[in-house]
Amino acid sequence: DKPWTVPALADAKRDGRKLVMLTCYDAGFARALDASGIDLVLIGDSLGMVVQGHDSTLPVTVADIGYHTACVKRGLSKALVVADLPFQADATPERALDASTHLLQSGAAMVKLEGAGHKLDVIRFLVEREIPVCAHLGLTPQSVLRLGGYKVQGRDDATAAKLRADARAVADAGAALLVLECVPSPLAAQITADLAIPTIGIGAGPGCDGQVLVLHDLLGVNSGHRRPRFVKDFLAEGGSITGAMQAYADAVRNGTFPDAEHSYA
Ligand code: KIV
Ligand code: NA
Repeated sequence: DKPWTVPALADAKRDGRKLVMLTCYDAGFARALDASGIDLVLIGDSLGMVVQGHDSTLPVTVADIGYHTACVKRGLSKALVVADLPFQADATPERALDASTHLLQSGAAMVKLEGAGHKLDVIRFLVEREIPVCAHLGLTPQSVLRLGGYKVQGRDDATAAKLRADARAVADAGAALLVLECVPSPLAAQITADLAIPTIGIGAGPGCDGQVLVLHDLLGVNSGHRRPRFVKDFLAEGGSITGAMQAYADAVRNGTFPDAEHSYA
């Protein structure tokens, strides 16, 4: 069991090995996650909602993500650490470079950012400066004010074609990984087939190269928000915290999660 590296992600896709990712915000859960064989850990800006109690991810700062990344990193020896660039930390290439440098110096191996469009320049700028990037398309929670809520994306032909083009564009810009959130399963499978880089789904069906869940959702911790369709409480079947993490990892690897009940057709 070697520690994960960025180039090993593409190898896993080529070999058809599913990638299991979970969010985490502190060292104690990080230790449990590492012991449970989770491949990737995300210090998500979801921490604004599940840790800080806000009703969106917009209030989260680079300092917040840096603090939690350092906490998580101390509890890990194997999982690859991905840290979110919070709202507007990626508004310009220069800001994104400063924020990403801080997150890598706090223990991340890769930063994640939402969207395509002008973010393609940001991705290229970071990758050229030795900062591995994970892209994030579909439902991008930092767009909640424009979107007017958290909704499935790419339901009609025009938005599906746009999403498919954006996915190719972020990969061409140098992203090494792509999170697809709340995308109909057939579209996510099509995007996964289009790309050489792995896709990680959340509410994107079983056809992705891997899956991610928010830690609190996996453990059935009530965040005070309506529970999305793709959320599954693995604590019930796992019986303990590491049991829940292992049950989730097993279900992703053997293709039983997500099923139709936890996906969008
Ligand atoms: O912030 C987060 O937890 C995320 C995942 C839901 C992909 O971005
Ligand atoms: Na996020």
